[in-house]
Amino acid sequence: MAPGIVKLAPSILSADFARLGEQVAEAERAGADRIHIDVMDGHFVPNLSMGAPIVESLRRVTHLPLEAHLMISDPDLFLDEFAQAGSDLFLLHWEGNNNLHRTVQRGKALGKRVGVVINLATPASVLEEILPDLDQVLVMTVNPGFGHQHFIPTTLPKIRRVRRMIEEIKPGCDLEVDGGIDATTAPLVVNGGANILVAGSAIFGEGEGVGAAMERLRIAVNQEETSKIRKSKSG
Ligand code: DX5
Ligand code: ZN
Repeated sequence: MAPGIVKLAPSILSADFARLGEQVAEAERAGADRIHIDVMDGHFVPNLSMGAPIVESLRRVTHLPLEAHLMISDPDLFLDEFAQAGSDLFLLHWEGNNNLHRTVQRGKALGKRVGVVINLATPASVLEEILPDLDQVLVMTVNPGFGHQHFIPTTLPKIRRVRRMIEEIKPGCDLEVDGGIDATTAPLVVNGGANILVAGSAIFGEGEGVGAAMERLRIAVNQEETSKIRKSKSG
């Protein structure tokens, strides 16, 4: 994986909502690759966050792809609304969805990219049959529902496993991670094979500002990418 291949997806959950457009613009100027929008319904996860109107507002102020991480009990009910609002990619949880294949196909029929998300206790093996239909897999590295949580290192073997499955079954499928990603944990997940990193508090929650926070994360990621390449050439 060449340096610069790993993408950063700032999660607006930790942004200052009174200045949301401004903060997203700052992230875009600082080289964000996409914007991650955490949608929570108070049932699927024990927290409430935002809905499609936020996507619609952001669509007007940024050119970046908008990915909707749907932490909601019945995503099928909301796909049309989020598609119309301007979402580019749906992230659908494996957990609690009895007809995930149908939900994935509905997302694709709306002309959107589709990813499946697996929680901490969900094994990588559940992805095997659905992987050929996916553009992306998201491995949660914290329990979903809240920002500012600590990265859970036992997810690293799972990230490696999913990377191997992707290479075998669906090369080109993106592997994203979400939760507790900062300049210390980013190199670990990049080493494990993640190529899209969601980061909320490490980007919007830092006193140093969005630009400086993005820069710090980018440097940590690039260093790891460079050392991975060196190791693969020498080994
Ligand atoms: C957690 C969300 C994350 C969250 C990440 O349920 O899915 O996207 O915003 O926040 P940090 O980066 O602060 O862990
Ligand atoms: Zn998320």
